[in-house]
Amino acid sequence: METQIFTKENLDIAAKALQQGEIVSFPTETVYGLGAIATSQEAVLKVFEAKGRPSDNPLIVHISDIQQMISTVEEVPEIALTLAKAFWPGPLTMILKAKPGIYAPALSAGLPTVSFRMPNHPLTLELISKVGIPLVGPSANLSTKPSPTKVEHVFEDMNGRIRGIVDGGSSTVGVESTVIDLTNDEGPVILRPGVITKEQIEAVIGPIQSTVKTTAGEREVPKSPGMKYRHYAPKTPVFVVDGTVEAFEETIHKYKVQGKTVGVMAQNAIVDAFENKVEGTYKMGTSVDDMNRALFDALRTLDHLKLDVILAESAPEVGVGIAYMNRLKKAASTAL
Ligand code: TXA
Ligand code: MG
Repeated sequence: METQIFTKENLDIAAKALQQGEIVSFPTETVYGLGAIATSQEAVLKVFEAKGRPSDNPLIVHISDIQQMISTVEEVPEIALTLAKAFWPGPLTMILKAKPGIYAPALSAGLPTVSFRMPNHPLTLELISKVGIPLVGPSANLSTKPSPTKVEHVFEDMNGRIRGIVDGGSSTVGVESTVIDLTNDEGPVILRPGVITKEQIEAVIGPIQSTVKTTAGEREVPKSPGMKYRHYAPKTPVFVVDGTVEAFEETIHKYKVQGKTVGVMAQNAIVDAFENKVEGTYKMGTSVDDMNRALFDALRTLDHLKLDVILAESAPEVGVGIAYMNRLKKAASTAL
């Protein structure tokens, strides 16, 4: 199958392909998604297949109109409306109890719940409303690889596997949405951290729990994204280094004396200090927001250089740094 690049001009063709059950990747502010109509079991199964995704990891339903959520769930808690008003369109995903028989059974992976998000990207909102049916949209990477934040990333992983990709430029947020479960008797729980922080959510709906667990038993259906599966990992081993020139100096030295080639992904000031002492660099900007935006592109770009190690700058685990470190730690599954 030839994978076509779509733009605003031929969005109708992309919409038609989706209606016919084909897979089209769409841009969002977080990462690119792998789109298919959420009501077709056959189309949803194709998404799992294209990604190589385990079938017990559920998918998010992407909507362009809040009615698409309201009319397909058992009940709409008041806080869901409050959260939607505060953060949609935007990088927040809400888990609610689904009405049975509407969405493809495969998308919930056996859970009685469905997750919803209204992405903040004009082309994708237009695409969903042209299709007229909500779209599933797992990140459009091959399972275990870093999530895609550019058309080229999607093309690298999905060329020949899907009908097309809607080119919406680079994702501005860079890490996936905050996932909040609203179906718990004990109150809302954040299952995956994102750039909409616990503090921002609490400012709108009051105190919540945030148990971001990172491990799960092998047999249970994972309740939280990525709890069980390896994620975001390039082929090159990734090591996390404190965000100081001294820490990088020491770590680079350690690998250099072993004769290893080294890549550095860090904020601009740190990269400037080591530019000609290592084989590869990626400047991640000057803030943690910049680091989130750059993270997946940095991992992919340095991985292409086929170096022995990638050294990645850590961020303080507060605010949006929690989302950054959640992804980086999963990419860096090897101990230093
Ligand atoms: O920002 C995002 O959320 C991106 C863009 C494309 O919208 N999408 C995304 O999808 O990250 P995905 O499938 O890679 O991650 C969604 C995560 C899954 O890992 C899954 O475990 C969790 O959300 N999830 C989805 N539905 C769920 C449910 N009903 N219960 C618990 N977790 C759920
Ligand atoms: Mg993903």
